[in-house]
Amino acid sequence: MILFVLTKFLPFTIIRDNYLPFPTLFFPMIFDPITVCNMELQNRFVRSATHESMAEEDGTPTSRLGDLYEELAKSEVGLIITGYSCVLPGGQSDSNQQGIYDDCFIEPYRKITGMVHRYRSKIVLQIVHGGRQADVSEEYPAPIAPSAVKNGCSGAVPKEMSEEEILKLIEAFTEAAVRAKKAGFDGVQLHCAHGFLLSNFISPYTNRRTDRWGGSVENRARIITEIVRRIKEETGDNFPILVKMNATDGFKSGTAKAELGLGISHAVETAKLLEKAGVCAIEVSGGISEAGGVTIKTAISSPANEAYFKEYSKMIKNAVNIPVILVGGIRSLSIMEELLENEFADLISMSRAFISEPDLVLKLKSGEAKKARCVSCNLCFDPRGIGCNFEFDHS
Ligand SMILES: Cc1cc2nc3c(=O)[nH]c(=O)nc-3n(C[C@H](O)[C@H](O)[C@H](O)COP(=O)(O)O)c2cc1C
Repeated sequence: MILFVLTKFLPFTIIRDNYLPFPTLFFPMIFDPITVCNMELQNRFVRSATHESMAEEDGTPTSRLGDLYEELAKSEVGLIITGYSCVLPGGQSDSNQQGIYDDCFIEPYRKITGMVHRYRSKIVLQIVHGGRQADVSEEYPAPIAPSAVKNGCSGAVPKEMSEEEILKLIEAFTEAAVRAKKAGFDGVQLHCAHGFLLSNFISPYTNRRTDRWGGSVENRARIITEIVRRIKEETGDNFPILVKMNATDGFKSGTAKAELGLGISHAVETAKLLEKAGVCAIEVSGGISEAGGVTIKTAISSPANEAYFKEYSKMIKNAVNIPVILVGGIRSLSIMEELLENEFADLISMSRAFISEPDLVLKLKSGEAKKARCVSCNLCFDPRGIGCNFEFDHS
């Protein structure tokens, strides 16, 4: 009776979000299985790639990483994307990042994928080179990039890559994917976002080349489409290749950098080219370090601030036929469901919320929580290993 009165006089979404239990009944899409790139996922939750600061100095994955991924798998995260894993030494952008630049990494990763596969989750390795934002050291004094455009944050001027270096990089990504497959990963994600090397190529701000690797959208995407072609040659057509890409460099509109930078229309064209090349899912993100806090926004204090790249993912989703994954400030179950219902994305990806609560999916599924407790303070960045360092008031 109460239910009848409620449903008669109040909009369904208000009732659903505030009164009704049984989340799997009333939020059917987010808990619904989906097949993405031949991977059968138990639901639409994705753990977005998150550099955990838990690898050895040379990039060897540790048992702490295995324990973390196992906990996410046990807690029913449909798809786990690992933290940033370097395809070449010198490609790190922070300390204790994972590596995949040598066969010696295969065995330790195999242990980790085995732990995850005891559950129903899938695990994909994110493969990366830091490019213009890579750390400099005595051994690697200058970062590499498509063009020598000074990094406004670090002041470093990267070295423009030669044709030979570009071809070597394509092979390094290919070998990394082959190792990932041998180590038991369900696929790889090419990191083409956030100002690292592959996103440096996509962006006209960081790519000023006039050869076949620069200029038109197609030329700027060529390094990625070539990597996809080579990975497919070496691993076959059934090994999933996902991409995380920027929809924007994130510069303040009206500025000279914004004029030059990657905008959504070029991002949409790039996404179409990636689909054509054989990429089987696209995660939509944005921002490069020089543009400020665009990628990992703080103070997501209300539902209105959530899903800050959703308009971009909708535009990309409208242009491609492969699944689109949305990341960036998503916290509430009702928002997740709305994003799926209204076709902003096919899957929901989160990073910080899973740092704070690795068991978030279980809490949302049981009705114990309606939203993540994450307050987006960014205190989770911790060189000793990621963790939620916000002091919650439990009084
Ligand atoms: C500690 C930390 C490490 C991150 N490391 C990576 C990374 O290795 N690769 C990547 O693509 N994004 C990385 N990100 C960005 C997240 O994947 C995500 O795009 C961003 O945090 C916004 O999503 P959220 O609001 O759910 O945290 C990282 C974010 C955090 C907080």
